[in-house]
Amino acid sequence: MKKIFVYIGSNNKNSKTMKVFNEIRNNVEVYLGVEECEYTIFQAYNLNLKTCIGCSVCFLKGSCTLENKEQNYKEMLSAMSEADIIILGTPTYLHHISSEMKNFLDRIAYLTHVMPFIGKKCVLLVSADSNGSGFAMDYMKKIATFLGLNVETTGHFLEIDGKKSWELARVSNDLINMIKENSIEINEEIDQQYQSYKRIYSRTDYSGFEKDYWIENGYLEYETAYQLGRAKYHK
Ligand SMILES: Cc1cc2nc3c(=O)[nH]c(=O)nc-3n(C[C@H](O)[C@H](O)[C@H](O)COP(=O)(O)O)c2cc1C
Repeated sequence: MKKIFVYIGSNNKNSKTMKVFNEIRNNVEVYLGVEECEYTIFQAYNLNLKTCIGCSVCFLKGSCTLENKEQNYKEMLSAMSEADIIILGTPTYLHHISSEMKNFLDRIAYLTHVMPFIGKKCVLLVSADSNGSGFAMDYMKKIATFLGLNVETTGHFLEIDGKKSWELARVSNDLINMIKENSIEINEEIDQQYQSYKRIYSRTDYSGFEKDYWIENGYLEYETAYQLGRAKYHK
């Protein structure tokens, strides 16, 4: 049984990005059955996630000052840390991600300093009416890397491609393979970032929540992000 976390950054009640995800989920369930995965699904429309207030406390303490003032934030973090696969979907807004996706990423910005999700697989979905999804996707990929997420498939869903977009079949197929695979991959960008943070957090004159996190979670004990990811994945 694989655990799948989903966040769809759309405030649209009839979100097209959510429809894309639902079609992919349906394809997966037709092929693998409903027992193979447990989904925890969040959509911005139902959440009322507070916007980041810019206090920067998270970068010092490793937690958000708003987290006890709302219900869903902590639930989202714990679902993410329990998940094997993380699916992030956003509509394209002016060639970028939606403000709802950006706010979610801002709220977990401090996590990009510790790469807590090394060993997890990621799917990125971007929907658009016609153009600009490339820029949004590139940005999402970059942030996913800093979170330690190995992006294994991405899908651009354009209205002009119609409902039967071949992207749907391809991404569904990729997700099926990700669910069936009992091994992980770690891409080069993740390892480069891991090595860079490792150099910083190994310094004796460095202190901060990042270093504490890395020591507590054994991150300094491995040569490569792959070794760390494999150890975490098979735990
Ligand atoms: C404020 C705003 C900006 C948008 N900007 C773009 C854009 O730059 N390119 C594009 O192709 N579609 C753009 N769209 C259309 C949405 O990306 C598209 O309809 C998307 O599939 C909506 O997904 P959702 O229903 O999940 O929110 C924009 C829509 C809105 C509301």
